[in-house]
Amino acid sequence: MSAEHSIRTLLSASPLAPNEARILLSHVLDKHYQLSRSALLSKDDLVLDPRALSDWKTLESKRLAGEPVAYLIGKKGFHAIELTVAPGVLIPRPETELLVDIALDAIKTIAEPIHVLDLGTGSGAIALAIAHSANHVALTATDQSLEALKIAQQNACNLQLDTRVHFKQGSWYQALEANDLFDVIVSNPPYIAKGDMHLVQGDLRFEPQSALTDDLDGLSCLKAIIFGATAHLKPKGLIAVEHGFDQREAVMAIMAEAGFRDIQNHADLAGHPRVSTARK
Ligand SMILES: C[S@@+](CC[C@H](N)C(=O)[O-])C[C@H]1O[C@@H](n2cnc3c(N)ncnc32)[C@H](O)[C@@H]1O
Repeated sequence: MSAEHSIRTLLSASPLAPNEARILLSHVLDKHYQLSRSALLSKDDLVLDPRALSDWKTLESKRLAGEPVAYLIGKKGFHAIELTVAPGVLIPRPETELLVDIALDAIKTIAEPIHVLDLGTGSGAIALAIAHSANHVALTATDQSLEALKIAQQNACNLQLDTRVHFKQGSWYQALEANDLFDVIVSNPPYIAKGDMHLVQGDLRFEPQSALTDDLDGLSCLKAIIFGATAHLKPKGLIAVEHGFDQREAVMAIMAEAGFRDIQNHADLAGHPRVSTARK
């Protein structure tokens, strides 16, 4: 085995972005040698054996072909938790942590028992992050996709939150009983319009299209969720939805049309209007 297959040389020779090369190589070191990320520096003269080297080459070439890092390593950090992810679910985005923080703030002001609904839960990201940070809250999380719900359920078990988060399958509120009521409803639905060029670029090419686009104008899921919330929120209950940076006016208008009050918009860390909230 030659020094050209040492950690140091593989990293410096890789055409990948340095942070991505480090994440992928660290994944290989964990899998083959049970070494933590610090080995990238502390053992950088370690020469990879043929099986580890072959794994590294495969990951490197898949990433060069555009596959998202999170799918390649099978996990993604979100809020205060780590989630298993696979091509059947959207990779949770840092912007969505704003929705979690808004829900957690609202929860602080509500008397127990507190029930929160997450519509279109995907990997379970929003519901599980809320459950992890607010251990007195009960959650229901829905998705239309059985594949997504399987991954979400696995994440709930891994995080030991499976007794607190209940998963249901169905289209938006059809997954629920007619008289199910919640203090807070959160959702990050598909809101990209049909034909949007982002759908054929970058990581999005590898994610489920049904998680990204409504195949219409981008507002149809938001409308269904906001109008449906009137029947499933307790009095003064909060609805909080994520949307595109250019959908603020449209979403706030839908909330007004549905009869909500105290309609507000919240910007993400980059300053983009990202979440709209309203009260029943
Ligand atoms: C943008 S992804 C959000 C996933 C996750 N909540 C997150 O923030 O990472 C939208 C999710 O909505 C689900 N979805 C799409 N249409 C749906 C419908 N009609 N009813 C329920 N869920 C739906 C998709 O399967 C997908 O998991």
